[in-house]
Amino acid sequence: MNNTAIDNKNEQKITLKVYRENRGQDSGSHHDTFEVPYKKWTTVLDALLYVKSYMDPSVAIRYSCRMASCGSCGMKINGVPKLACYTKISELEKSTIECEPLSNFPIIRDLVTDFSRFFNHHKSMQPYIQTNDSTEADTSKGTFSFYQSPEDVDKYLQFSYCINCGLCYSACPTVGTDLNFPGPQALAQQYRYFADTRDESKKRLDIVDDRHGIWRCHFAGSCSKVCPKGVDPALGIQLLRSYMLGISKNDKVPAKKIEVNGNNNNNNGADTE
Ligand code: SF4
Ligand code: FES
Repeated sequence: MNNTAIDNKNEQKITLKVYRENRGQDSGSHHDTFEVPYKKWTTVLDALLYVKSYMDPSVAIRYSCRMASCGSCGMKINGVPKLACYTKISELEKSTIECEPLSNFPIIRDLVTDFSRFFNHHKSMQPYIQTNDSTEADTSKGTFSFYQSPEDVDKYLQFSYCINCGLCYSACPTVGTDLNFPGPQALAQQYRYFADTRDESKKRLDIVDDRHGIWRCHFAGSCSKVCPKGVDPALGIQLLRSYMLGISKNDKVPAKKIEVNGNNNNNNGADTE
């Protein structure tokens, strides 16, 4: 780990209060406190990695990209679901920072939670493009691309920015009372594919039309407040509902299929018909 930022002389100190629990042991939970040096740009993840490197290697955290892309470092920071790699200590303006595991997820150890239920809800939305033409999967019959106008792409683009970090799921009060509720992430992904002109599935609205489904959302809006990628899952839910209630009309025009002639395609990426 590169701690040059932390090791600088002009460092300040922050108190890091870290939740500790091990699902495999009956010792209950407690918080451990660490005094950690930090600089203006030190993130909460940097501080936790400093703790692991120099103070207590047994603190369990999950992370990968360190650039708000993989979605694996989610945790509650001073009570609010955030990405640890995207949260600077200096911006929190507190002398003590409390790190706790995400709510609404079973705890595995310390700050690491179990995402199985979350991903099962995600998968139940069939989060992939579905078309009626099986020949598209058969490359011996040619390769196809689908034309979408910038306006077509705009309809789903912001929802495709989801990194599955689970912050919205953790903040959702409905998930806290009904574990069968798919949650804001899954429902927003349902809208993402529903709005995509390449997708021809007729089942999308039926999948969420359940008493534990989309109707359970009380529109608290906390999901959209904590989303680090601007997805606005609450908006996706409301848009989906408007189609289900008949307020919006589903006049989606299927994307035009264009055959691409493999190695003979000398059009420098331009569309051919
Ligand atoms: S919608 Fe936002 S908060 Fe929810 S999982 Fe996706 S990126 Fe994370
Ligand atoms: S480490 Fe990948 S999102 Fe934070």
